[in-house]
Amino acid sequence: MQALRPGSPILKGILLNANVRTLLYMKNNFDAPVSTCVAVKKVLPAIPQYLQAHYWWAYVHPRAVHVFERQWLVNLILWGNYKRLCNAVLHDYGHQLPGRTLQIACAYGDLTPRLAACVAPGGSLEIADILPIQLENLAGKLGPQAPIKLHCMDSAALGFADASFDRALLFFLLHEQPQAVRERTLAEALRVVRPGGTLTIVDYAPPSRFNPLRYFWKPVLDRLEPFARDLFSEEVTAWLPKDGSFVSLGKQRFFGGMYQMLTLKVAETGKTSASR
Ligand SMILES: C[S@@+](CC[C@H](N)C(=O)[O-])C[C@H]1O[C@@H](n2cnc3c(N)ncnc32)[C@H](O)[C@@H]1O
Repeated sequence: MQALRPGSPILKGILLNANVRTLLYMKNNFDAPVSTCVAVKKVLPAIPQYLQAHYWWAYVHPRAVHVFERQWLVNLILWGNYKRLCNAVLHDYGHQLPGRTLQIACAYGDLTPRLAACVAPGGSLEIADILPIQLENLAGKLGPQAPIKLHCMDSAALGFADASFDRALLFFLLHEQPQAVRERTLAEALRVVRPGGTLTIVDYAPPSRFNPLRYFWKPVLDRLEPFARDLFSEEVTAWLPKDGSFVSLGKQRFFGGMYQMLTLKVAETGKTSASR
């Protein structure tokens, strides 16, 4: 019998079928009138090679959600900083999300339910992720009346109009992506935010020389998350568009500099107004 390795044609077939089944399940469930959740895309984007090759164990495999959807585990992976980083995001938002908010990629743990609780009347929180299994898991963490929309979409090719969101959030996605995809993701995130709106990025950062984890954690990540080393050695500005379409509003470092929250404001000029 042929072994099923990540990336093998047989496993790809199984995963594709599983995804189609999941999408059908999502469509049937999210289109129900009681629910405010919808799966917008009818055609699934292909799972990127980097996700299939390096992150199948964390996100793609059907057992991944079962293993990783534990608050204590995601907190452990972030050295006890999960709540602190989520708190920083919510504090930066003033615990109020008027208008349209986009979270680019799902996250394990309670980040999205906490964001959903901050949505102001008339506002919405939308989440774009490329894996139906992750969107399905997220739907299970949200109440049926939550003002949420789920989109099965590639962060590097968002199917939203220019300037159509008031703010966007990238929570620990960039370090998982190869440089070219990371650059596309950042450009897309800035494209879909309206002038004067914000892009918040929470991710790894180059740790201080005195942080012992710099010497211990990086080699571990090198084995598990091969693109994370970029975030350990360079600032996010290295991958941002060079067209002056944003200004930096603030940068905070956490845990000896190993984590960062960067807030960018989209420049007021050169963009069309928000299309709602
Ligand atoms: C945000 S990241 C990591 C979050 C963090 N490890 C946590 O759970 O707290 C994980 C998500 O990114 C999604 N993802 C990876 N590449 C993507 C892409 N190109 N487009 C959309 N979603 C993507 C994965 O499907 C997964 O759900």
